[in-house]
Amino acid sequence: MRNKISVSILGGSGYAGGELLRILLQHPNVEVSQVTSRKFEGQFVTVVHPNLRKRTSLSFIGPEKLERCDLLFVALPNGESMNQVMQLINKAKKIIDLGADFRLHNKSIFEEWYKQQHISPHLLTKFVYGICELHRSEIKKSRFVACAGCEATVSILALYPLIKHNLIESKIIIDAKMSSSQAGVSPTLSSHHPERAGAVRSYMPTGHRHAAEIIQELSINGFIPDIAISATAIDMVRGLLVTCHVSPKRNITEKNIWSSYREVYRNEPFIRIVKEKRGLYRYPEPKILQGTNYCDIGFEMDSRSNRLVIIAAIDNLVKGTAGQAVQAMNVMYGYEEITALEFTGLHPI
Ligand SMILES: NC(=O)c1ccc[n+]([C@@H]2O[C@H](COP(=O)([O-])OP(=O)(O)OC[C@H]3O[C@@H](n4cnc5c(N)ncnc54)[C@H](OP(=O)(O)O)[C@@H]3O)[C@@H](O)[C@H]2O)c1
Repeated sequence: MRNKISVSILGGSGYAGGELLRILLQHPNVEVSQVTSRKFEGQFVTVVHPNLRKRTSLSFIGPEKLERCDLLFVALPNGESMNQVMQLINKAKKIIDLGADFRLHNKSIFEEWYKQQHISPHLLTKFVYGICELHRSEIKKSRFVACAGCEATVSILALYPLIKHNLIESKIIIDAKMSSSQAGVSPTLSSHHPERAGAVRSYMPTGHRHAAEIIQELSINGFIPDIAISATAIDMVRGLLVTCHVSPKRNITEKNIWSSYREVYRNEPFIRIVKEKRGLYRYPEPKILQGTNYCDIGFEMDSRSNRLVIIAAIDNLVKGTAGQAVQAMNVMYGYEEITALEFTGLHPI
């Protein structure tokens, strides 16, 4: 039997860190060694993540006590990992970063979108973008992986086959419905219950930073996507739905769309094409994906307005971050890709 790898989590008291723990504690090839939190140092991780009671007796340690491990998951707020990465690379043989600091390969593009200087630009090209469906063979060989943003993950997976098969024009409008857990664990006025409950709030009608990742990943064979994202915060704790509006190229049929998805995703364990004629759940819906690593994708052609509408959903904390990270880990270490990610979701929920 293969020995277990030792894995630690930097930023384990946050929402992404909690999901990492939940998934990794079920993984047969992993020993979770250390989990950090500054605020909860010395306390049991179950104080913060009560769903893990009877699954672990680990306590949080301060980040400065982190010891060497095989693999380090970095689940810090955006802008933190680039400050710490030079120390971290001495602590771990491999690193998977869940934040935004190493997703973009180009320093000036990072600085244009994030409005801050990159502290470790020499490492930008060393990180492989973490979507296994696009970069499996590079992830397998990599030491560093940067997981995609959640809006970027679901949008890229929804659009990639259509662009690969040259079926759509470059203008792409992405309407994203966002949940509150996307904002992380730290409360703000906008997450205060009286302000957030019941909201349908236009959060970012223009200028969403994930557009930069989507352009990077979908610029294939000379195609340059023109991406416009409008994000709306809705009354949902977990989950993310995107509705993408695109113009199909001339003479493209529904059959062409089906074939492109089938050809690209036929053997993908976590991608499901959802386009039913009957029933309640005819298109992707985040509600039934809670806790799962699936990305559901559906579409509808509107020939009257020459529009193709693609609908896709994920759980932002699983396929959108922690599940994606564990999927990448499975690929990096040669484990079966679905290990610890088999949860099918709940219905009704
Ligand atoms: N939430 C999502 O849906 C989602 C989706 C995709 C990607 N992501 C990415 O995942 C990362 C984590 O997101 P999150 O939502 O889990 O954030 P979060 O809930 O705010 O958690 C952040 C964690 O980092 C720790 N931390 C903060 N500053 C630190 C510092 N300077 N040094 C050491 N530890 C520090 C915090 O704990 P202490 O303060 O106790 O140390 C906490 O454990 C982000 O980069 C985010 O972009 C999140």
